[in-house]
Amino acid sequence: MKRIKIGIIGFGNRGRIYSNFIMETLDKVEYVAVCDVRAKQLEESIKKYNVPNIYDNVDDFFNAKLPLDVVFICSMDQYHYKHTIMALNAGYNVLLEKPVSNNLDEVNKINNLATKKNLKVIVTYVLRYSLFYKYIKEVVDSNEIGDIININTTENVAYWHQAHSYVRGNWHNSKLTGPMILTKCSHDMDLIYWLMGKKVSKISSFGNNNYLNKEHTPKNATEYCIDCPYKDSCAFNAYRFYLANPEWLRPMIGDNLNEETINKFLYHNQYSRCVFQCDNDVVDHQIVNIEFEDHSTASHTMNAYTRWCYRDIKIMGTKGCIVGNFEMQKFKVYHFVDNSEKEIDITNYTKDFEGHGGGDRLMFNQFIDYLLTSKKTIQLTSIQESLISHKMAFAAEKSRLNDGKVEEID
Ligand SMILES: NC(=O)c1ccc[n+]([C@@H]2O[C@H](COP(=O)([O-])OP(=O)(O)OC[C@H]3O[C@@H](n4cnc5c(N)ncnc54)[C@H](O)[C@@H]3O)[C@@H](O)[C@H]2O)c1
Repeated sequence: MKRIKIGIIGFGNRGRIYSNFIMETLDKVEYVAVCDVRAKQLEESIKKYNVPNIYDNVDDFFNAKLPLDVVFICSMDQYHYKHTIMALNAGYNVLLEKPVSNNLDEVNKINNLATKKNLKVIVTYVLRYSLFYKYIKEVVDSNEIGDIININTTENVAYWHQAHSYVRGNWHNSKLTGPMILTKCSHDMDLIYWLMGKKVSKISSFGNNNYLNKEHTPKNATEYCIDCPYKDSCAFNAYRFYLANPEWLRPMIGDNLNEETINKFLYHNQYSRCVFQCDNDVVDHQIVNIEFEDHSTASHTMNAYTRWCYRDIKIMGTKGCIVGNFEMQKFKVYHFVDNSEKEIDITNYTKDFEGHGGGDRLMFNQFIDYLLTSKKTIQLTSIQESLISHKMAFAAEKSRLNDGKVEEID
């Protein structure tokens, strides 16, 4: 049987997740190459995967003209466009981490080039594959709750995740990456559109960074947690969080995670900066209102100030409604006509909830089967279909910056 030859660009958090899946699937795939600008630093970790070709820059990676079937683009958002265009021009299919790009023009250009070259570009909307959303989609599509009139989704980011990713880390500044409604919530835009199954016509949005900003710096707080007089009383003390949750530093430190390496890494590092004194400009809360072509509606709320990091959802139809909680991995379906209800407990169907409720692994496997057989599941999100969620996110951000002005979606 043919094995799919894979090269990965970006051996960070996502690159490692896919590397682990590759090792689980060696009957179908072959791990041919890794490219990461930090290849030297990460060499020890990369070598564990027996990858024969390692590069520290994309020019060498592409100039090598390796006989790859697909490139996984797992670099940061701002490099996706360049790396994807290079991969398509080299004749490779692409698995592209969301978001596709930080501007719509580039999303269109990737779509056009993929079509011209007749190559597959699939965007990693991993939540679609999780059994939780898959089974919700099945109930919606079966017409069990009738015509969908309204969808209401909530994204509970969690204060510690906000600090790690959106204040101190990768996605803190929209000028470097993109607005949070794109970098965090493009998943939710995609889910809303996918579940509703209708054309989106209008969007408006409000949101701000109300709290994690200079204005709220406590008196005499220092620039880094280690020196700070508030370190015992501050919820955002980096040392408390990372020593209890070392996994979050694996992409930066590598596999040698212990008290000593963590303390050394954090010392006067961006990941221990005072959350009130960073150069973050992304929101800590945002709401988005969406109208569809038939005047049905949806709303999405994203908020940093929650204990846990999870999503929940309500779907209101003419014959019933669905109420679901991704953290609990359960949803209930209520039927109006006979007042009956049923609970779908996803833990009865799978024990694998690792990585977006199991969605990461399911997506990887469906994607590899797609490359092998050309059979596409309804989860696999082509670059063309991903244009919709990106249009929604860009329109929401434009509206937010324009005091909630309604944006039309074509
Ligand atoms: N599908 C999802 O649900 C999901 C979840 C998290 C992140 N993401 C996306 O995945 C991407 C990667 O995120 P991450 O969390 O793995 O980030 P990360 O910072 O852990 O990894 C990025 C890696 O890319 C490398 N890199 C940077 N510039 C490069 C270049 N020019 N050439 C080669 N390598 C380069 C970095 O050294 C780093 O190792 C982002 O676009 C992010 O938005 C998607």
